[in-house]
Order: sequence, then structure tokens, then C-alpha cells
Amino acid sequence: MSQYQCGSCHAIPGVADARGVSAVSLEGFARRSYIGGRLPNRPSTLEAWIIDPHAQIAAANMPALAVSPEQARDMAAYLRTLK
Ligand code: HEC
Repeated sequence: MSQYQCGSCHAIPGVADARGVSAVSLEGFARRSYIGGRLPNRPSTLEAWIIDPHAQIAAANMPALAVSPEQARDMAAYLRTLK
């Protein structure tokens, strides 16, 4: 997540330099019911969101960052540990 600069927009506990404030903090993400306020917070949905937000919510503001499926799986697994 550091490499993809997720932290330029999001604060992400445990990720170096992830202190962005232009998007919602991902602290406590595992406790959230929804992704982007609309999608059920499930592993497969979270991975799909990280790969291509606009395919999930057309009006999403988060850009697609060319994250591979393997990397999205790892990122999603980490985000689910943020309680
Ligand atoms: C250019 C800013 C930007 C970058 C870079 C960015 N995001 Fe986002 N992200 C957003 C915005 C804005 C939202 C809120 C939903 C929307 O409108 O798109 C969001 C929403 C999310 C959510 C849902 C949070 C919630 O509580 O609903 C997750 C998870 C997420 N981003 C993960 C990531 C990951 C992982 C990366 C890096 C691969 C990343 N983001 C990079 C802007 C960004």
C-alpha cells in the first residue's frame, strides 16, 4: 500500500507515511459494514474495489491504481485486520 501511495489519500494504521486526509481514514476498517458507503464489506468485494473502484460504484472518487489481483488480496487481508 505504501508502494501504491494509498496513503497519499488515506490514513492507514501500520503503513509508513500513510497519513493522507483527502479520503476517509482506514482505521477500524474491519468494523465497517460498507465499502464506499454502499458495497457490503466482504473480502471479494473489497478486492474488486481496490482493483477498480469505478466498476463497483460508477461515481467513485478513488482512482484505479493498476493493483494486481494478488496484491489486492494481500491489501484486503491487511485491511480486515484493522479493528
Ligand atoms: C486519490 C486518492 C485515493 C487513493 C490514492 C486511494 N484511495 Fe481509497 N478511497 C478514496 C476515496 C475518495 C474513497 C471514498 C469512496 C469514493 O468516493 O471513491 C476511498 C475509499 C476507499 C476504501 C473504502 C473505505 C470505506 O470505509 O468506505 C478503501 C478500503 C480504500 N479506499 C482503499 C484504498 C487502497 C488499498 C488504496 C491503494 C491501492 C487506495 N484506497 C488509494 C481515495 C483514494
